[in-house]
Amino acid sequence: MDIDAVLKRIDDDLETSLERLFALLSIPSISTDPAYDGECRRAAQWLADDFAAMGFSAEVRDTEGKPMVLAKSDGAPVAGDDKPHILFYGHYDVQPVDPLELWTEEPFKPHLVTREDGSKMIVARGACDDKGQFMGFVEAVRAILAVEGALPAPITILIEGEEESGSPSLPGFLAAAGDELKADAAFVCDTGMWDADTPAIAMSLRGLVGEEITIRAANRDLHSGQFGGPARNPNHILAKILAALHDEDGRVTVPGFYEGVVEPAAETKANWERLGLTAEEFLGPIGLKEAAGEKDRTVLEQLWSRPTLEVNGMIGGYTGKGFKTVIPGEASAKVSFRLVGEQSPAKLREAFRAFVRERVPADCEVSFAEHGGSPAFRVAEDWPMLKKGEQALKDEWGTETAMVGMGGSIPIVHSFKHKLGMDTLMIGFALEDDNVHSPNEKYDLKCFHKGIRSWARVLAAL
Ligand code: BES
Ligand code: MN
Ligand code: MN
Repeated sequence: MDIDAVLKRIDDDLETSLERLFALLSIPSISTDPAYDGECRRAAQWLADDFAAMGFSAEVRDTEGKPMVLAKSDGAPVAGDDKPHILFYGHYDVQPVDPLELWTEEPFKPHLVTREDGSKMIVARGACDDKGQFMGFVEAVRAILAVEGALPAPITILIEGEEESGSPSLPGFLAAAGDELKADAAFVCDTGMWDADTPAIAMSLRGLVGEEITIRAANRDLHSGQFGGPARNPNHILAKILAALHDEDGRVTVPGFYEGVVEPAAETKANWERLGLTAEEFLGPIGLKEAAGEKDRTVLEQLWSRPTLEVNGMIGGYTGKGFKTVIPGEASAKVSFRLVGEQSPAKLREAFRAFVRERVPADCEVSFAEHGGSPAFRVAEDWPMLKKGEQALKDEWGTETAMVGMGGSIPIVHSFKHKLGMDTLMIGFALEDDNVHSPNEKYDLKCFHKGIRSWARVLAAL
């Protein structure tokens, strides 16, 4: 492959690449809210049309939930027939935008913002997670086809529409379409850089279990003067249970919680030690100082190798403006666990439910709703593809690649390995300050541009 010609094409085409990304970013494909079902389908169709225009055979595939986009390069010529087949995965769905009032511009009106030093950033929901990231790969493929007239390897592209809501339709889809997805390697662009100058390959992801608990006490909301005292307050019960989930040392108290946790190899820990991140450096930019969590663990150990339990939301009683003297009939919380090693999502869910049930008074009721579960994932350290990725990134960024862990979760990656038998090369260009899932999400234009160039180099290395 004439990589210099491809890179030049990418540079020359950056403006139209941005226009395409902006068109996609204008579609509010929020997967967790059924009000946006039509928009999710519109995003899927937009992508299928774009992949078809590139010469792929592309379809919108229905699932029990949001549609998947599946595109195969079987029409396009491939340079050499000995090349590994690549499955590229991304997700077109995005997180909700609330609180909307904290956005400086509308979340689905993508635009460029120029900083004082002249650097630019793309601002919109999904700019980074994951539309800007996966379109980086797509633009690299487009440039290669334009310059070479052929692909360096057969490529299948799978873009999912419910990653941000735990990929509930994934098992069904993999059971039905798994054979079509089988490839020699999976590529994912949905993780981050080590810092703004240092690219990274993610060696692990944490797993995730989502649970919603609802505690019901009285059969209706009550006047807190008329009933307060004798009537139980479900907010209090809930708060007490949630507070009991961690001990003084930051460890989770649910029996069996740490079963299956694997300590990283000494060499891996030494690697992380060398990255030299202090709690102050990590917490400073988010306005904090002291590390919480497990007392005897460094920040990177906590993020990359330890499980956590977080309360993501609490609802109960009057939360509107002003004040209301009420004892609610019901209180609920959304709780999630991050998993590592061999921890089992199903076992943890049961252990958590038992812990809660034990603490609910006999005249109250508790119910649970499940919000997805996926195990943790680790790449095989000796996978030869990692070396190719490392070298390609070094060529583009001019520095060594950091081999990192990731605290976040991408449920499908575990299935790629354990259902379809392939490892995943996870390269991403997100920065710590991209406001992923937060108001004013952004993606640096430099990350988008060099992300495209990096993927072209990875593909050239095949
Ligand atoms: N791209 C993220 C995952 C991620 C975050 C990887 C940070 C590396 C670093 C992904 O879109 C995401 O947000 N996943 C959710 C999954 C969940 C909703 C099932 C997550 O991690 O919370
Ligand atoms: Mn993502
Ligand atoms: Mn996300």
